[in-house]
Amino acid sequence: MDFTTYPDFMLLQGDCMERLKEIENNSINAIFADPPYFLSNGGISVQNGKQVCVDKGDWDKGGTPEHIYKFNRRWLEVCRPKLKDNGTIWISGTYHNIFVVQRCLQECGYKILNIITWQKTDPPPNLSCRYFNFSTELIIWARKSPKIPHKFNYDVMKELNGGKQMTDVWRLSSVGKWEKTCGKHPTQKPLRLLYRIILASTDKCDTILDPFAGSCTTGIAANLLGRKFIGIEQSNDFLQLGVRRRQEINNPLTAQEMLKKMSESPDEVMVLVNHASQDKRKLMIEKGICYMRAGESKGSLQVTHGFERMRFVLLHTNGVNAQLFHIKKGKEGSFQIWNKFSLEKQGFQPEHADYYIVIHFENTPIEFVGQLNIKQRINTYIPKIYPLSDIIGIE
Ligand SMILES: C[S@@+](CC[C@H](N)C(=O)[O-])C[C@H]1O[C@@H](n2cnc3c(N)ncnc32)[C@H](O)[C@@H]1O
Repeated sequence: MDFTTYPDFMLLQGDCMERLKEIENNSINAIFADPPYFLSNGGISVQNGKQVCVDKGDWDKGGTPEHIYKFNRRWLEVCRPKLKDNGTIWISGTYHNIFVVQRCLQECGYKILNIITWQKTDPPPNLSCRYFNFSTELIIWARKSPKIPHKFNYDVMKELNGGKQMTDVWRLSSVGKWEKTCGKHPTQKPLRLLYRIILASTDKCDTILDPFAGSCTTGIAANLLGRKFIGIEQSNDFLQLGVRRRQEINNPLTAQEMLKKMSESPDEVMVLVNHASQDKRKLMIEKGICYMRAGESKGSLQVTHGFERMRFVLLHTNGVNAQLFHIKKGKEGSFQIWNKFSLEKQGFQPEHADYYIVIHFENTPIEFVGQLNIKQRINTYIPKIYPLSDIIGIE
């Protein structure tokens, strides 16, 4: 049974090894595949605070190493001709399957581009206490051909990372309740992960294929971002769940809300880093006010992605004497636009503009064990917003 309810959301039911053959060669811009990891083998894990046996379903029960190899080799082989020449494939996994996938990719003629580490910000504890806590999944990114350049939206990724090169470690939370309003899939991927993958490797109107579609997370993210989706899934129940999720985003308000949530990385705490001369910094700390020019010119605040998650102000003078402060939570709000005269009333001498962005902070610096550093970078004089983890080094 096939579901083609929406022109941009095509679902095929059955074994992907077979159904993939029906897809036109050279027609797919990117593939995301979340194949069975083969980890449902009687181990234990934690769900909602309770110990549970790892059992995702029969489809995830481990075969022999030979079976795992043959399975991955086959679907990867069938997928490759479906990709356009500059197309790429993303495959998620853990140590249970990912090294086999890497071998198969190379044998099939793909070229590996990156291994993304998805670091979960909310991993369940390891109950046995005999291992490190498992907090990552790996995603191999590979292109169809060793010789033909691949599609990569480098600038989009840089912007998403606050103006710096996006790294291969992505800190993102696991799937949230807001993504399960239509029902649950036992191994559902978070929309935020797919958001990044789709933006990195496709353009609007491109087609994305997922041969192990599950609850169609890839399709939902693809459609919300204006891309087309083809999904293959063997289970009718999971496909029905995918259809319900697709129906849900037919409501423009729901779609807008989901798109907003999907584009956030709420786990990253952001910090405003601002340069101030020695005297000005002293006065700023006394008054608990940090100000910057509003606008586009040099010395003005660059409002980057994540501004709404700003929790701290880091003040420094020429890259030294950095001190970190909490932004005030107050009725009047911590972020305001003031004019020159309001600042003058506070004893400042604003020089270059009529309007300034003012941020109020608690004027007791945060105590850290060890030395607080700011990394030297070009233009540290321009106030910018960075993830906390990125700008402080505790020695
Ligand atoms: C890890 S889950 C994918 C979850 C999905 N990423 C999501 O966010 O919902 C793998 C899915 O592949 C399906 N599956 C396993 N073997 C398959 C095959 N040979 N052909 C098609 N689907 C298969 C399973 O039923 C399962 O739903």
